[in-house]
Amino acid sequence: MDVKKQCAEEALTYIENGMTVGLGGGSTIKHLVTFLKDSGRSVKVVTPSWETKQHCVSEGLQVLPLSDVPSIDIAFDGCDQVDQQLHALKSGGGIHTEEKLVAYMADEYVLLVDESKFVPALTFEHPVVVEVLPQALPYVRRKLESFPVLQANIRMSEDKDGAVITENGNLLLDVYVDPDKADSGLEGRLKGLTGVIDTSLFTSVVTKALVAGPSGIREITIKGEN
Ligand code: 5RP
Repeated sequence: MDVKKQCAEEALTYIENGMTVGLGGGSTIKHLVTFLKDSGRSVKVVTPSWETKQHCVSEGLQVLPLSDVPSIDIAFDGCDQVDQQLHALKSGGGIHTEEKLVAYMADEYVLLVDESKFVPALTFEHPVVVEVLPQALPYVRRKLESFPVLQANIRMSEDKDGAVITENGNLLLDVYVDPDKADSGLEGRLKGLTGVIDTSLFTSVVTKALVAGPSGIREITIKGEN
């Protein structure tokens, strides 16, 4: 079985009947949806991902709008990179604002990754994606000049002329951070800029990572490896 499937199978063991479960995006989560359906467990799902929602619906899982749910028992997600401090970057999907909301609403927020994504410390080869209110774009770009930023590019659409517009009607800035100067306060300082909705840097919400490799699954918590 491929490692992503193994990771998803392990994640299923954390899910109990009656739970409200958050599911993010990506291929590992897609495997988890299939395992969840095959298990026959009765759960309610919330998801910020259009693709995950379609897959849940086609598998017959009950999906609720996030706006109808006050709390979440456990949430699972993929990421681009996660480190030993459980700091993570979730930059590819462009849906990090709602993914972070799901993460904070959940009693447990668990990342599912293969070994290639687990590093001692974030390398910042992926950008920190900043969702910005369109009217605030010039202001936010000017403020970013005082950050350890190498480049900040508006994310452009590959399928139409113009910028990517988020589900919330905002723009995305792909902010490439100088890895030698990134510090633990970066997420908070970026979020503190007026006009910034949220960023793809998750430094204080991940409670666990399940890291899958050829020798099995490692469970990483903030206290270390179990
Ligand atoms: C994008 C993400 C996705 O969740 C992640 O890329 C999914 O990875 P995989 O397909 O390996 O499960 O965070 O920013």
